[in-house]
Amino acid sequence: MAASGLWLPLLLAAALAGRAAALWPWPQYIQTSEAHYAIFPHDFQFRYHSSSAAQPGCSVLDEAFQRYRDLLFSSRAWYPPEPTRKLHALEKNSLVVLVVTPGCNQLPSLESLENYTLTINDDHCFLLSETVWGALRGLETFSQLVWRSPEGMFLINKTEIEDFPRFSHRGLLLDTSRHYLPLTTIMDTLDAMAYNKFNVFHWHLVDDSSFPYDSYTFPELTRKGSYNPATHIYTAQDVKMVIEYARLRGIRVLAEFDTPGHTLSWGPGVPGLLTPCYSGSHPSGTFGPVNPILNSTYEFMSSFFLEVSSVFPDFYLHLGGDEVDFTCWKSNPDIQNFMKEKGFGSDFKQLESYYIQTLLNIVSAYDKGYVVWQEVFDNKVKVRPDTIIQVWREEMPVHYVKEMELITKAGFRALLSAPWYLNHITYGPDWSEIYMVEPLEFKGSPQQKALVIGGEACMWGEYVDSTNLAPRLWPRAGAVAERLWSNKLVTNLDSAFKRLTQFRCELLRRGVQAQPLNVGYCEQEFEQT
Ligand SMILES: *[C@@H]1O[C@H](CO)[C@@H](O)[C@H](O)[C@H]1NC(C)=O
Ligand SMILES: *[C@@H]1O[C@H](CO)[C@@H](O)[C@H](O)[C@H]1NC(C)=O
Ligand SMILES: *[C@@H]1O[C@H](CO)[C@@H](O)[C@H](O)[C@H]1NC(C)=O
Repeated sequence: MAASGLWLPLLLAAALAGRAAALWPWPQYIQTSEAHYAIFPHDFQFRYHSSSAAQPGCSVLDEAFQRYRDLLFSSRAWYPPEPTRKLHALEKNSLVVLVVTPGCNQLPSLESLENYTLTINDDHCFLLSETVWGALRGLETFSQLVWRSPEGMFLINKTEIEDFPRFSHRGLLLDTSRHYLPLTTIMDTLDAMAYNKFNVFHWHLVDDSSFPYDSYTFPELTRKGSYNPATHIYTAQDVKMVIEYARLRGIRVLAEFDTPGHTLSWGPGVPGLLTPCYSGSHPSGTFGPVNPILNSTYEFMSSFFLEVSSVFPDFYLHLGGDEVDFTCWKSNPDIQNFMKEKGFGSDFKQLESYYIQTLLNIVSAYDKGYVVWQEVFDNKVKVRPDTIIQVWREEMPVHYVKEMELITKAGFRALLSAPWYLNHITYGPDWSEIYMVEPLEFKGSPQQKALVIGGEACMWGEYVDSTNLAPRLWPRAGAVAERLWSNKLVTNLDSAFKRLTQFRCELLRRGVQAQPLNVGYCEQEFEQT
């Protein structure tokens, strides 16, 4: 990591940073000047342009206007209408929004366009976007451009921004199995994600530790597999609420139900689903991964994933497939016989492939696409060509940079997560290591690079619950957010440190308990204690 010699100048620079707003993530093209305009909170408006495809009644934007008005002005002391110096008022004291393509009631998708242009000059204060999702990104940028004079005036500089994301999948994984996260914690995280222009909430719902997803087809799963079936579950209604909350912020919900490993919590609710492990010639009383040799397993998976496919409307489901421990399968005589019958020899990867292939066929039949962890690729499971492979292992079986090369060479789309495990913490400014990762640094053709659709920051929950989630996530996840949104050339650590430091103060002002990046203090006013 960087020695203190590198960090001292950065600190000084941060102290000298002006009061004008700093943007995070940095836009693709921006031109600003010192000219600026006054915004008057009492009658400031977000308005739909008369020829916008979105008009009043568009839920996504109506609600976003309200949110950004609150973020900008409510709970902030506001003194003047008496400016202490001559200021130009913002044109019509409004931001006019024009959306080109209709789609207020749709869900965001991997293909959604998020580009926008924002023009603030003597004649216009204008946000133009292709879709409502782009308008959301532009509103966030607008909110970050507003700053306050020492007298408390709200000001915005003359600015021209043309912006679009570098990658279309910019995700954050939360794990609600190791620790249950209350709905309010999930919603607060979705808010902070929107401030960072993240657009995918990867919801790792269940795992060995607990099964909080309340299945209406198999209610025994939560009754027997959750920490507390009265309080520590997500009902269909809760899930719907999370999906709508996310949608209104332009965020997709990618649900993960990881099998055949990581499934201990499924066992009590579905007798016979897990493999009985043997000690010598007798069952030991413990269980391993999902039992891949029984028809009943696939009957269960068909019903379960039929439900999941309708509860989670995103085109993609995450099917897991990581870290299957073969020890229990090896110990079980029925499995040994099945291996013989199928001619798998002693290659348990073939058994794993057999399971996953059958599962993928089931899920494909429900018109869903899927994302899987890299082991599915490493173990040579035959998957549909449109499968998305998520890279999470840093060194095994090869370094993640090589893994990205191999996956895209085989023609699959890839998501990068290996260097972005935010649950790993160290002393010092580890955000900069996260920030300096270049997702396309592997060897490969332009066609291969184009198969990288983005990446995800992961926050596994072994040591994280609602008490420490926010400070562990923010602003560190912001480093991933900027890497996935901004231009490849935006890599200056000095500038990033200054902006991220300021953005962290803005997050605090917005009620996100973001941890500090280094010594210092937040200059801005913020009312929370
Ligand atoms: C905005 O205007 C102020 C006051 O003129 C100036 O100090 C600041 O540097 C400007 N900010 C940007 C980003 O141009
Ligand atoms: C957004 O991007 C699309 C596709 O590249 C382009 O056709 C459109 O003009 C852009 N719209 C805006 C508002 O920048
Ligand atoms: C399991 O299903 C296969 C294929 O449908 C069938 O051939 C086999 O007999 C079934 N096994 C049992 C034990 O029902």
